[in-house]
Amino acid sequence: MELNNEKIQKYDNILVYDSPKYLPFWYEKLSNFGFSFKYHIVIHFEPEENTELSLPVSHVGVLIFSKNFKINKVRIPHAYCSFCGETLKDWGGKKHLMHPEGTLISDVWKHLNLSAHEIIGNRVPDKVYHFFELMFGRVDREVASREIQQSEDKEITDTFNFLPDEAKNKVMLIDLIEGLKELPDNSIDMIFIDPPYNLGKPYANYHDERGDYIDWTIKWINDCFRVLKPQGSLFYLNIPKWAHEVAYRLIPRFYLQRWIVWDNQGEPRGKLIPAHYSILWLSKTAAVKSHYLGNEQRDYNFCLREKCRKQRKLNGVNDRVKIRDVRWDIHRIKHASKRLEHPNQLPEKLLDFLIRLSTDKNDIVLDPMVGTGTTVVVAKNLSRAYLGFEIDPKCVDISQKRLKGDCLNLFSGQTHTIKKAFMNKKDIQIKVGELAKQLGRLPDINEVENYLGINQSELFTIFNSWSKVLKYAKLMEVDESVESRR
Ligand SMILES: C[S@@+](CC[C@H](N)C(=O)[O-])C[C@H]1O[C@@H](n2cnc3c(N)ncnc32)[C@H](O)[C@@H]1O
Repeated sequence: MELNNEKIQKYDNILVYDSPKYLPFWYEKLSNFGFSFKYHIVIHFEPEENTELSLPVSHVGVLIFSKNFKINKVRIPHAYCSFCGETLKDWGGKKHLMHPEGTLISDVWKHLNLSAHEIIGNRVPDKVYHFFELMFGRVDREVASREIQQSEDKEITDTFNFLPDEAKNKVMLIDLIEGLKELPDNSIDMIFIDPPYNLGKPYANYHDERGDYIDWTIKWINDCFRVLKPQGSLFYLNIPKWAHEVAYRLIPRFYLQRWIVWDNQGEPRGKLIPAHYSILWLSKTAAVKSHYLGNEQRDYNFCLREKCRKQRKLNGVNDRVKIRDVRWDIHRIKHASKRLEHPNQLPEKLLDFLIRLSTDKNDIVLDPMVGTGTTVVVAKNLSRAYLGFEIDPKCVDISQKRLKGDCLNLFSGQTHTIKKAFMNKKDIQIKVGELAKQLGRLPDINEVENYLGINQSELFTIFNSWSKVLKYAKLMEVDESVESRR
């Protein structure tokens, strides 16, 4: 049936269940019916074992719209590590804060352990339905048909233009709209954009509360598509609300390859914890360049405790699953002492994933709002050419320093510096482990020197090999495939 406006007006809350690529259309429709968007619930399922997709699809979604939002508090039982049996969340010394009935539900549902088989067809799985009943009480069901626009089929061409060498490998102090004007059509292989989220955050050179946020976004994103190569990828990261607004306007003209979910559960807030960012993976043609990345993702049934990880490794336990479009194993840089002077610095591991997924060596990566330079630093480490635009001179400076490799001196606070007098082997190994976690990969010797504030010769009076320095770092959840140079 057609979604009937009159019929739905008697409800306070409307929930729409669909595949992520169709959800933006429901978003638009229900917003026009006067409901306000509250949550995008991500429902994870285990992808088919034999899928041939480079990035397996592993979620459907439910959008919650409301006129009068009230829900019951719902808790899910605490989960325990499949290997050591401890709680998955490491409560440290705060175990007394564990609620006896479990943790508050978040907007990423992995606890249902659904298989791909349970998702096929448009029937809402009973397990999903059950949780909405717990949240809302009675839930009526209706099947509604979508009338949506599909991306137009476009001719696949190999036409692209070369970006002159002098435009490569730099970070420029420029407004992205002006910067993009300088670039030829079809010249960039991958664009990553992490814009301000219009939440009134304090930026130095930018007012983060624009009335024209979406119109402004569409203006520069159109130009991003102009410079993107026909088989190139554009990744747009934002909170779900803005991702829907942008997706709705772009999908008829471009291809939504995947709706990637970056699940990085924060602290409980309200009755339902907002736990994820959306990353739209878009392209100009259906045939996008992409690579299969294999079993690199930590299985969420295993904990992160160092001791357990070490033991799993020794016992040859397989604690990895296929990389998929829901990433729960990439952690935000939370502690101020670990990030540069920018509240939104992204973890390198996130960019490492997206760049390896969509590019080859020597391809060109553009970040038109580069912030502290995370994208360009990772692109450089992966031997890609890069270009960054940024309007805040301080960020340009930080990015350039990170590219030169002396970024670590910029860390605010000195909490990581080991006082030489107290230096012992174990302290150093733990600190190097912390550094690896921040970088999302094993550090090289220069990075370790900078971080610890000691030089190589001092380091090697304490250790007789580089691999001993990296002892704990190797147990961290980092990418060991990135070569760690001495
Ligand atoms: C969310 S931050 C990016 C953080 C970055 N991903 C990182 O890891 O550090 C957004 C950045 O966009 C920049 N920005 C805002 N408006 C801009 C514009 N018109 N042109 C270029 N950069 C802009 C801001 O100064 C800010 O540094």
